[in-house]
Amino acid sequence: SPHFAYRDGVLHAEGVSVAELADRLGTPLYVYSRAALRAAYGAYQQAVGSRNVLVCYGMKANSNLAVLREFARLGAGFDIVSEGELQRVLAVGGDPGKVVFSGVGKQAYEMRAALEAGVKCFNVESVAELHRLSDVATAMGRRAPVSLRVNPDVDPRTHPYISTGLKENKFGIAIAEAPQAYRTAASLPGLDVVGVDCHIGSQITEVSPYLDALDKLLDLLDTLAAEGVTIRHLDLGGGLGIRYSDETPLSPSLLLDAVFERLRTRGYGDRQIVMEPGRSLVGNAGVLVTQVEYLKPTEVKNFVVVDAAMNDLIRPTLYEAYHGVLAVAPRSDEPSALYDVVGPVCESGDWLARDRELAVRQGDYLAIESAGAYGMVMASNYNTRPRAAEVMVDGDRFHVVRGRETVAQLLALESTVE
Ligand code: LLP
Repeated sequence: SPHFAYRDGVLHAEGVSVAELADRLGTPLYVYSRAALRAAYGAYQQAVGSRNVLVCYGMKANSNLAVLREFARLGAGFDIVSEGELQRVLAVGGDPGKVVFSGVGKQAYEMRAALEAGVKCFNVESVAELHRLSDVATAMGRRAPVSLRVNPDVDPRTHPYISTGLKENKFGIAIAEAPQAYRTAASLPGLDVVGVDCHIGSQITEVSPYLDALDKLLDLLDTLAAEGVTIRHLDLGGGLGIRYSDETPLSPSLLLDAVFERLRTRGYGDRQIVMEPGRSLVGNAGVLVTQVEYLKPTEVKNFVVVDAAMNDLIRPTLYEAYHGVLAVAPRSDEPSALYDVVGPVCESGDWLARDRELAVRQGDYLAIESAGAYGMVMASNYNTRPRAAEVMVDGDRFHVVRGRETVAQLLALESTVE
């Protein structure tokens, strides 16, 4: 990537040496590039052009306030899944009118907070939720804008753990049951039907699953139009893939061109499209920097034991996800060997990378690539490991955007029993 590149033999994030960051701030350390965030968002803006599209950043991918602030400044909306995420949006001055609220388990207090804030839409995932939302809104003397998240039962051809639009997934309302659910929504006093929503999965690299889903949504719109229910926007969730190793990512413009072509031919060219990209906006804007604690050759395998672990980046062990590993300052004075990169956590599943050719020594820094999405947000304190610090690089400058946790902070909420 242009934002993480070698200069004088040392990996740099934009204009800043990653080795210097690690020396000064310690490891493990998440390093983000502001220019990479802007470039990723810019690709969406360019693809959108003058079309009626709202890009709602799927902020679960990386909800650091500095990341959110950047996207808010660029005019993004946000896809939230909790009241906590709403508070983050408000904390950075994001526009609540551009917020869509997704998730299968919204609680009444979360609905109240979102109505109070004035979100654009609730993406409702069940008939029971329709009733709760109507009750909450009615009690506040309001009407809640709703979309139904429809489960279009299409195969996104991605990892089964991150495909969300198949019948057997917990998400959404089966497409066959959607007309009845819309009738219910239209009849409830506290609801205002505004849209339709789907989310078919993540790390998608082909257009066809989106078009399959879109066709099913448009069939539904035909049915609803015949009953006098108008759908103003279509929220096409399902995240574009990024390059982790050799994937060919699908560009936002290819996708939007295909989507608008289909909308036009089916007579819905005047509708708004909402997108909820997460990974493709942040994934390749971050790396996780870690230090080699030990080299541990064994009879069957060589291990590099580093100071980052599954609690810092769980994707490898949870999804068998591939993340590239770079030496921050590659050595020519060391023979390379095949290593598994593992952390200090007491689990065999605590690995970050397998079978990588590396020329490293104790004390060297490594950068785990493509760690900007679903990295820090999925971190835990397993083994009483304080979570990593996060730093945002901006040209030749850097800003610590989350300090390193301390053990004292971890213990603070706990107490013993006499
Ligand atoms: N909107 C909704 C309702 C979602 O459920 C998701 C992701 C997104 C937007 C953002 O999708 P993206 O553009 O990132 O694909 N932890 C997994 C990914 C789980 C994605 C779940 N939903 C991973 O590390 O691969």
